[in-house]
Amino acid sequence: MRILITGGSGYIGSHTVLELLESNHEITVIDNFINSDLESLHRVKRITGKSFRFHEMDLLDTDALDQLFRQNDFEAVVHFAALKSVGESVEKPMIYYRNNFCGTLNLVEVMQKYAVKRLIFSSSATVYGKAKTVPILETAPTNAMNPYGRTKLFVEEMLKDVYESDPSWSIIILKYFNPIGAHRSGMIGEDPSGIPNNLLPYITQVAVGRREKVHVFGDDYETPDGSGVRDYIHVVDLAKGHVRAVNKTKDTSGLSIYNLGTGNGYSVFELIKKISEVSNVDIPFEVTHRRAGDIAVCYADATRAQKELGWSAQFGLEEMCRDSWRWQKLNPKGYDSRERE
Ligand code: WQD
Repeated sequence: MRILITGGSGYIGSHTVLELLESNHEITVIDNFINSDLESLHRVKRITGKSFRFHEMDLLDTDALDQLFRQNDFEAVVHFAALKSVGESVEKPMIYYRNNFCGTLNLVEVMQKYAVKRLIFSSSATVYGKAKTVPILETAPTNAMNPYGRTKLFVEEMLKDVYESDPSWSIIILKYFNPIGAHRSGMIGEDPSGIPNNLLPYITQVAVGRREKVHVFGDDYETPDGSGVRDYIHVVDLAKGHVRAVNKTKDTSGLSIYNLGTGNGYSVFELIKKISEVSNVDIPFEVTHRRAGDIAVCYADATRAQKELGWSAQFGLEEMCRDSWRWQKLNPKGYDSRERE
């Protein structure tokens, strides 16, 4: 299929571009590089040996978006483009509402205009907030606890209204749990700008010598070792889930929501230990106070994706950490040769 991928040079986007190319789809990527690096796309080309079109573009530029759809006969859109820092969204909520919500609104309007009605939307488990029970089902109540999560939730609600108004759409909402890992080549991976918000890149930056120690945000949670438990999923498993979702939109209209997680939870201390093992590096850490808004335990019930997409995560913690470390070791400063903060 002829597929547009927004935010395709980002961490999950670049891995999904790679898997869709390997599945012989015709790909066009747009990205504004606010939080990613063009180098990731050059490397996807090197890994796959396949070419694809790319345009530097912002979803807030409605003229450019209109021209793009006028000049291309897209059959589906995979929409990753969004800002995703919880902390930053609390400080600058309007940047998040404009970029994440209005950007998606512009995209859906231009899709309607050009009758492109197959959409895969990148959402997040963060919309579940402090889930009452685990594992978390797609039917769990939503309760986004921060502006970033609310932008994802509001987009989900908008897409439900779009589908209600026109059931010829085929919309799939994918809720990611905690993506980690990297392509086995070690050529593409997670490259946060500045101090990593997320645990795994912080640990690998300590292991590679870029940071002094890991700060464990609390060890007094109701969990086996007291540290937070999350459902870490290999980014390649996640990318393959998108390939299945694209295939599903081909045949049917409808609106479906799927959790993309492994169904297993691992703790902060377990990740530190695993990265230490695969890197053969001792990783210093210090237990500090809890991070505001964090919950003790979060992991998915991914049986619906298994049943309806024929998809389930294949990689375990060992491979996730081994692949994360390979990327970090081969790219101590990520994609950017310029010294990063
Ligand atoms: C994981 C665990 C922390 C950093 C976030 C977003 C979510 C999604 C995934 C976009 C928790 C602990 C972390 C550190 C630590 N992103 N931790 N020291 O919070 O589960 O989810 O990323 O969609 O929206 O909320 O992931 O990696 O930040 O934290 O102890 O330096 O590691 O307390 O238990 P989280 P995380």
